Amino acid sequence: MVVIRGATTIDHDEKDEIREAVKELLEQIVNRNSLLRDEILSIVFSSTADIHSYYPAKAAREAGFECCSLFSAQEPVIEGALPLCIRVMLFVEKEFTPHHIYLRGAKVLRKDIMTIYNVAIDGPAGSGKSTVAKALARDYHICYLDTGAMYRACALAAIAAGVDVADEVAVTDLMRGVNLEVLYEENVQRTFLNGRDVSEEIRRPEVSMAASTISKHPSVRMHMMEKQREIAGRMSCVLDGRDIGTFVLPDADFKFFLTARPEVRAKRRYEELVSRGNRVNFEDILEEIVRRDKQDSTRAVAPLRIADDAILVDTSDMTIDEVVAFIKHSIQEKI
Ligand code: DC
Repeated sequence: MVVIRGATTIDHDEKDEIREAVKELLEQIVNRNSLLRDEILSIVFSSTADIHSYYPAKAAREAGFECCSLFSAQEPVIEGALPLCIRVMLFVEKEFTPHHIYLRGAKVLRKDIMTIYNVAIDGPAGSGKSTVAKALARDYHICYLDTGAMYRACALAAIAAGVDVADEVAVTDLMRGVNLEVLYEENVQRTFLNGRDVSEEIRRPEVSMAASTISKHPSVRMHMMEKQREIAGRMSCVLDGRDIGTFVLPDADFKFFLTARPEVRAKRRYEELVSRGNRVNFEDILEEIVRRDKQDSTRAVAPLRIADDAILVDTSDMTIDEVVAFIKHSIQEKI
């Protein structure tokens, strides 16, 4: 017999939240351990003393775990204990090495097995995503994955080859022969196309719109998503993009959606480009930002939109330090 441990947390002591959290926890335990439901002999829950609204065992039965014995107990009040926490122990009729599952705020209970975590930061151009993501990654000593750079590199490859970025067939064909790599040098992302470092070139203004157009193609998105998931599964990182919380990593540990008024975003982008030595016009940048917003948020596959469980931050009237502090505080609150 094997015993599998797990825990999760809820935000409020409410029946529906308990049902949903228990269902998620049990399903992840079953999936991660490749269990058949009739291999489970018994499931024992304990919940912290601040949970009164529902029995986790009842929630388990409702989630379809009815063929094993179920039991819930309440823990004593322990000072400093993680609040609103549901713990579980599954007794399973077979021999294997179990994967224990700790979700939501309960991840902090087992830092030993929760070694990899991801922070998803989505939002439109100029919302401050990349500056904030870099600051977070630096402070948490984890990597920053700029997913926009990957779409920009695809666009650059198409531009260099004279391929129309709007032509999905031609772009897909081209991508087959292109080696796109994201490497880290002292924790700083460098983007390589066929072995050549294009990290600076992809920032050229004409690449922005082309990247937005190329990112509409499902085949390009699938390819990028696989690469991004592979990187995020291998190491803790802060990822910024348009679809990280909704599509690439719907189970990301922490999700934020940054936005700002278009004029504010255009001003930031204008200043960034000027500081890089580009000769640009503010009105053109504003127009491009508005066009790109529209294209990114109306495309059929993985459009730019806020995930249901992401925290929305309007950065229009905030400094970068304020945004970073707010996000860190929100992360701290969740764990
Ligand atoms: O963040 P950025 O400006 O570097 O992104 C360039 C374009 O790439 C953006 O307009 C849309 C696309 N993109 C995307 O579709 N999904 C992502 N996760 C990141 C970028």
